[in-house]
Amino acid sequence: QELKLSLEQIEKGGFEHFMLKEIFEQPKSIHDTMRGRLIVNEGVIKMAGIWDHVERFKNANRIIIIACGTSWHAGLIGEYLIEEFARIPVEVEYASEFRYRNPIITDKDVVIAISQSGETADTMAALKLAKEKGAFIYGICNVVDSSIARITDAGSYTHAGPEIGVASTKAFTAQLTILSLIALKLGKHNGNLGNADFMSLISELDAIPKKIEEVLEATHELTQNIAKDFVNATNFLYLGRGYNYPAALEGALKLKEISYIHAEGYPAAEMKHGPIALIDENMPIVIIAPKKGHYDKIVSNVQEIKARKGKVIAVVNKGDTQVSAMADYVIEIPETSECFSPIVASVPLQLLAYYIAVYRGANVDQPRNLAKSVTVE
Ligand code: G6P
Repeated sequence: QELKLSLEQIEKGGFEHFMLKEIFEQPKSIHDTMRGRLIVNEGVIKMAGIWDHVERFKNANRIIIIACGTSWHAGLIGEYLIEEFARIPVEVEYASEFRYRNPIITDKDVVIAISQSGETADTMAALKLAKEKGAFIYGICNVVDSSIARITDAGSYTHAGPEIGVASTKAFTAQLTILSLIALKLGKHNGNLGNADFMSLISELDAIPKKIEEVLEATHELTQNIAKDFVNATNFLYLGRGYNYPAALEGALKLKEISYIHAEGYPAAEMKHGPIALIDENMPIVIIAPKKGHYDKIVSNVQEIKARKGKVIAVVNKGDTQVSAMADYVIEIPETSECFSPIVASVPLQLLAYYIAVYRGANVDQPRNLAKSVTVE
């Protein structure tokens, strides 16, 4: 027993939980996911899985992304990325819905499955269905040689390393990294993304690990302080727009999974179609508001929240004034391109969820009722 305990402590590398260790590993896991693929000085993205089948992607009628949980949130951001840069229509579906609704799939479709474990039963079944219907199937998995990795026609591994905490953190940001690489590579290849834009985007992407390091440094203590004030909260709302709408969904999921506080993510503009009715002085609202991406619209959303006395925790860029002046709590992150901002913004949200859960005495690495990989329906 004692030996087991100390081994586990060694594995946690000095961190109290695997989840915290994995949050802190993100500069490295993102770097590892890009290594050998993103060659900034040569201005290329090398991805054999894509390149060997590039005509299949180029001629695709559409790309369908299937996934569950956190991986599904990565898929939503993947849709924004691929549609913006490669201009290929993308749909994102929960694997469990896709497999039971007799979806229209042809051999002109490309189906991308995103799965950390590569073992999720619903994702696997959805892929088999797509394969039967003749689609080209592509995998984005973290676990090497997993079932999904094996049945796909091609794929790209996220090199995030083993993820032990049930709540996904570094696998999520690695998935976003892969999806960014795919979108930029396809966009460059099919001519929708000009060379100058491609070059500036790849150097932005290359700088992300450094920015995550800064975020960890700047927000680790801050998120602990904020968390202390919300230990007894019963509900949370997470809002974002554009690329950061799925980041809001993921922020809310993190909190739900490990702290058992009810949390909902919403596109900020949808607030007026329902959630606004919930806002009063007891409702904490996490709002992701980087400068690039609908900032002015977010400013008015924050005004609407403050008019109803909601407590605003704002994730903003360094030097922000407008949202910061209204927010009750301000979390600053470095600026990046809008399309990569969910990677950076997700980190303080992971920390916030983590510390709220820790202060509530919850078992963050193994939350009740949840499993790391769901191999049954
Ligand atoms: C479970 C895990 C989640 C994960 C989801 C999909 O619910 O608890 O963290 O996002 O499965 O898992 P996958 O391995 O397919 O990404």
